[in-house]
Order: sequence, then structure tokens, then C-alpha cells
Amino acid sequence: MATTAKNTDAYPLNRDFLASSRLHLQHQVWTSSLGYLLHPAIPREEHMLIADVGCGTGIASLEIAKQLPAGGKVKAYDLSLEQCPPKGWWPSNVSFEELNIFEPISDHLIGKYDVVFLRHFICVVQSGNPLPLLSALLKLLKPVVVEPASSAPKMEAFMNMGGETIKKQAGWVRDLHTRFSDAGAELVAHDRHWTAKEVMMMKQEVG
Ligand SMILES: C[S@@+](CC[C@H](N)C(=O)[O-])C[C@H]1O[C@@H](n2cnc3c(N)ncnc32)[C@H](O)[C@@H]1O
Repeated sequence: MATTAKNTDAYPLNRDFLASSRLHLQHQVWTSSLGYLLHPAIPREEHMLIADVGCGTGIASLEIAKQLPAGGKVKAYDLSLEQCPPKGWWPSNVSFEELNIFEPISDHLIGKYDVVFLRHFICVVQSGNPLPLLSALLKLLKPVVVEPASSAPKMEAFMNMGGETIKKQAGWVRDLHTRFSDAGAELVAHDRHWTAKEVMMMKQEVG
């Protein structure tokens, strides 16, 4: 898996000390501005399983894990584990593993998670088309409606269109909330938050 990750790693940012510091400051900007890590609409249940995709340093995984009810666990995935803590420092309910979310999802991960957490992916979706990402993330989620023979014709049609509908690379983030039905999913909540004043300077500095 490590070889695959290296061959396909088009991640445009570094993974050095400065890059990790930047992620930690961005974490502060987000938590101060949102006031939560997991959206309040997400039910907290015992033994819930969370996948943090593209976890970076793992700071969100480590914080989320502290807030989970009994038996809750976080599995933190990233193309590279360079910025993650070493295994000896993992809490008992967090573990880290390499995963390229744009490669076919292994069978054992399909339908496994109650929650998929994703943050700071603007620079990762370079095509500007979020549908392959959304489709992969949905595969990780436990199915809400179980219909073994069901298909997603709209999703497939959209995927076949390629990048025609995408104008700008980052435009997908602004419109992401409008795309869930294309991927056969239902949007539960869409919130927009302003950056909290006390972390505005930090945000300006880290981007
Ligand atoms: C800007 S960082 C965000 C880190 C973390 N989500 C956070 O909020 O602090 C983006 C992360 O996505 C990871 N990444 C990039 N491409 C990926 C891929 N194809 N599959 C999984 N992770 C990927 C990068 O290695 C990097 O750690």
C-alpha cells in the first residue's frame, strides 16, 4: 500500500513541521469558529465507528475520540502517515492507517462506519469534481437503506460526464451541499459559519 500511495501522491502541500503546525492552527480556527468537531445533528451512540479520511496530523481524530460515548472509536486514514503520531502514542480508541480514498475501497471497509469525517480537502480535489470523492466516502458509510440490487443511475450518468460541469477547482466546496442527491445521499444539514473574531488573525496567517 505504501508504494501505491507514493506513486499516486499528488498532494501539493508539504508534510514537514511547518505544514503540521499549519494544520494545528487551522484546527484551532475551525474549532473556535464552529464550536464543535462532529456536527450536533450526528447522533452519539455507544460503539460508534468514525472514519477520518485524510487525517493529516490526526489532531481532529484525537479530539473527536475524547468526545465519544463508551466503545466509540476513530479510524484515521491518510495517503501518508508521515504527520501522524507514532503507534506508541495512539489512544486506545484511535488508530491510523494508510488509505488512498481515490483507489477502490477494500471490501472490508465498505459499509463499516457510522460517520465519515472529512476536513480541509480543497487542495486534494484538484479536478474540481467532488463526485468521485463523495462516492468513495459514501461507500465507507453503513447503509441506511439496504437494497442489495439497487443501483444509482443518476450517479453513474454524472460520473460518465467527466469534468464538463466543473468550472473552477475550488467551486466544488461552495456547491458540495447541492451534490449529495447526485451521489444517492441525503443532506441532513448545511451550515455556514463565519470565522470567529478571536481566530481571524490565525486564519489569515494559515490560509
Ligand atoms: C490539508 S490536509 C487536512 C488534514 C486534516 N483533515 C485536518 O483537517 O487537519 C489534507 C490531507 O489529505 C491527505 N490526502 C491527500 N490525498 C489523499 C488521498 N487520495 N487519500 C487520502 N488522503 C489524502 C493528505 O496527505 C493530507 O494529510
